[in-house]
Amino acid sequence: MSNILCIGAGHVGGPTMAVIAKHCPQHRVVAVDINAEKIAAWQSDRLPIYEPGLKDTVLSARGRNLFFSTEIERHIAEADIIFVSVNTPTKTFGRGAGKAADLQYWEKTARQIVENSTSPKIVVEKSTLPVRTSEAMERILNSNDKGLFFDVISNPEFLAEGTAIRDMEDPDRVLIGGRETDSGQVAVQAIVDIYAQWVPRDRIITTNLWSSELSKLAANAFLAQRISSINAIASLCEKTEADVSEVAHAIGTDDRIGPNFLRASIGFGGSCFKKDILNLVYLSEYYGLNEVAAYWEQVVKMNEYQKTNFVAKMVDAMFNTVTGKRIALFGAAFKANTSDARNSPAIDICQALLEERAQIVITDPHALDNAREALGEAAEKVVFEPDPYAAAQGAHAIAILTEWRQFVELDYGAIHEAMIQPAFIFDGRNILDHRALHDLGYNVYAIGKPPRTHFPGA
Ligand code: NAD
Ligand code: UDX
Repeated sequence: MSNILCIGAGHVGGPTMAVIAKHCPQHRVVAVDINAEKIAAWQSDRLPIYEPGLKDTVLSARGRNLFFSTEIERHIAEADIIFVSVNTPTKTFGRGAGKAADLQYWEKTARQIVENSTSPKIVVEKSTLPVRTSEAMERILNSNDKGLFFDVISNPEFLAEGTAIRDMEDPDRVLIGGRETDSGQVAVQAIVDIYAQWVPRDRIITTNLWSSELSKLAANAFLAQRISSINAIASLCEKTEADVSEVAHAIGTDDRIGPNFLRASIGFGGSCFKKDILNLVYLSEYYGLNEVAAYWEQVVKMNEYQKTNFVAKMVDAMFNTVTGKRIALFGAAFKANTSDARNSPAIDICQALLEERAQIVITDPHALDNAREALGEAAEKVVFEPDPYAAAQGAHAIAILTEWRQFVELDYGAIHEAMIQPAFIFDGRNILDHRALHDLGYNVYAIGKPPRTHFPGA
C-alpha cells in the first residue's frame, strides 16, 4: 500500500486521482487544495466541475480510498508519492510576461514539500511545465538539510476536458519520464505500476525527463496547429465558395493526415493550448531560436484572427451595425460537455459584440456561472438565460459558439417565429443543418462555407 497525494484538486488533479483511486483500491489517494470551497465541493454531491462520468467515478472510491482535504502539510508528511497538479498560467508581469509560464505556485509547492517531509518521496510533475523545470524542482527538493532524497518524475496529463474520464480510463498513452539513475528508474517503475493496474503495458511510454516535459508542449502545439491550419483554409473557402467541411473530409481521408481535429471553428479556447504554445514560443526565444518561435506564434495569431473575423462577418451581414440589437449567444463553454469557460472564444466574441453595443444574452447548459466570472465587470451588461428559446426570443441573430448537442436538437422553426426579421444564424461551430435553416427563412452564415441568404443579389 502506498499513500498517494495530489497537490491541486482542479480539472486535472480531481479527475485523475478519482480514476487512480478507482483502479488501485490497495492505495490510499488524497487530493488537497488551498481552495477550501473547492474541497468542500469535492466532498459533496455537487462536484466543482462538470465532466461526464466524473460523479460515478468519484462515488466509486470516495470514503473508501479516495479523500479530499485542505490539510496539505499533514498529507505531505504522510505521502510516499506526490503528484503536483497546481496551475501554471502564463506570466503576466516581469521577464517573459505574456508568454513564459508563471512558476510561482509550482515553486511554493516544492518548498512546502521539503518543509513538511520527514521521509524520502517520489514527486511527480503532473502540471504542464517548460522543459527542464524538473531540474529546478530537483535542486529545490534536494537542497535540504534533513538528509532526504526526492526523485522527480514527469508524468504529463493528456486528458481533454469534456472527455476526461474516458481519456483517463482508455488513454492513447501514458507518458512517464525519469532520470536514468538506479533510483530514477525505481521511481519510474513505481508510477508505471500504478497505471498498469488498468492501462495495457504497451501504452505506457517511458522516456527521459526532458523528452517527457517537451512532449506535452509539443502535443498541444501540434493539436492547436491543426485547428489554426483548417481555420486558415476556412478563410480561403469563404473567398472561393469552397466548403471547408468537404475540404477537411477530402484531406482527412489521407492516412498521413487523418480525420481528427480538423473542425473549422471560431478558434480554439480552453486553459491549455494558448498558454502552452506561448510557453513554447518563450522557450524557443530563450534558446535563440527566433524562427522557431515565430513559427509557433503564428498558430496563436491565426486563432485570434478567427475570432475577430467572425465578429466582423456578423456586423457586415447585419447591415454594418449591431448596436442596440439583441443577439443570442448559444454557448459559453470553450467546448461541449464542460462547464469551463476559461479562455473560451465565446467570451471574447461576447466582449467584442458588447464593444459594438449589441444587447447580449448568453445561454449554455452548464457554463453560465463560469461565463459570468470570466466576463468580470462586463457581465453586468449581459443577460444569462439557461433556456435557449427564451434567449432567442426577440433576437435579431443567434450565434452558435459552443458545439453542445442540445443546440442541434432545438425547434428552429419555433425559434424563427419568435425572432426579429430578417433573422440571422451564425454557426461558429458548423453543427447545424444549414440548408434546413435556410428553408425555414433564416439567413445562415457558417465557418468556411458560402452564406445562404434570402437577400436578392447576395
Ligand atoms: P485548475 O486551476 O483547474 O486547478 C489547479 C488547482 O491547484 C486549483 O484548484 C488551485 O487552487 C490549486 N493550487 C494552486 N496552488 C496550490 C498550492 N500551493 N497548494 C495546493 N493547491 C494549489 O488547473 P488544471 O486545469 O487542473 O491544470 C493544472 C495543470 O495541468 C496545468 O499545468 C495545466 O496546464 C495542466 N493540464 C490541464 C489540462 C486541462 O484539461 N485542464 C489537461 C492537461 C494538463
Ligand atoms: C487539450 C488537449 O486536447 C489535451 O490533450 C490536453 O491535455 C489539454 O488541452 P482541451 O483544451 O481540454 O484539451 O480540449 P480540446 O478537445 O483539445 O479542445 C480545445 C479547443 O479546440 C476547444 O475550444 C475546441 O472547441 C477546439 N477545437 C477542437 C476546434 O476548434 N476544432 C477541432 O477540430 C478540435
